[in-house]
Amino acid sequence: MSQAALSVEALSKSFGGLHVFKDLTFDLAPGEILGVIGPNGAGKTTLVNVLSNQLTATSGTVRLYGEVVSGRSFPATARLGLVRSFQHTSVFPTATVAENLVRARYFAGRPPQIHTEATELLEVCGLGAVFHRKAVDLPYGLQKTLGLVMSCLAEPKVLMMDEPAAGLERVERIVVDKLVHYASHVLECSIMIVEHDMDLIRRLCPRSIVLEGGKILAQGATPNVLSEPSVISAYLGEALEANDAVH
Ligand SMILES: Nc1ncnc2c1ncn2[C@@H]1O[C@H](COP(=O)(O)OP(=O)(O)OP(=O)(O)O)[C@@H](O)[C@H]1O
Ligand SMILES: [Mg+2]
Repeated sequence: MSQAALSVEALSKSFGGLHVFKDLTFDLAPGEILGVIGPNGAGKTTLVNVLSNQLTATSGTVRLYGEVVSGRSFPATARLGLVRSFQHTSVFPTATVAENLVRARYFAGRPPQIHTEATELLEVCGLGAVFHRKAVDLPYGLQKTLGLVMSCLAEPKVLMMDEPAAGLERVERIVVDKLVHYASHVLECSIMIVEHDMDLIRRLCPRSIVLEGGKILAQGATPNVLSEPSVISAYLGEALEANDAVH
């Protein structure tokens, strides 16, 4: 069997007496796009925070292509190629789009110059026309898009996207597909997508994991997982209502 891109072994995180998740074990294969779903408070963002080493794990081991990344700093983890995007916007507000992109590359140890494909990506995502505008002056959707593009321009080996579609209108969400396509086909990286948008999960993620109460409730091929009765009763009613509420 080939080596996992990301290997998560018995990972736990507690805040004092609150166990957010316990003994999580799963792998992400090279080139795989994995969905991570689950109700509010299930521990999805905390998982991304721990995997990216923004938070320290209580116990367990995380490996990136066999190399232990647990216990490293957040910047060192990004430089190794394990990069996350944020549920909420995460841009430098008073910096321009161009400056934000350079900072994202600097943070991940990349030179400032970007390749032709990345320049095309900026156009495709609607950022080309606002390249020299301050991030704070952009509408929310473009700020969120900028944060997602920043994570791609860090040229990760494994990209973890925390609710990439949150805050985007339904018609804007196609940008997430384009970014995932870029990350998958141009960067050839593995991707973990945390989302409540089940259409997006169905479209982009052949395999999914369901987190509930800090445990893996179900995992497997996405269509099978989404039709499991335990998943429907624990989560999907709620998620589908949330999807319907967004236009
Ligand atoms: N810094 C913290 N200190 C204490 N508790 C925390 C902290 N961060 C998260 N939690 C708790 O951990 C649990 C999981 O939160 P988390 O944000 O990871 O959920 P989530 O699955 O991302 O939810 P959502 O779908 O709403 O984004 C919640 O009960 C939350 O209150
Ligand atoms: Mg979250």
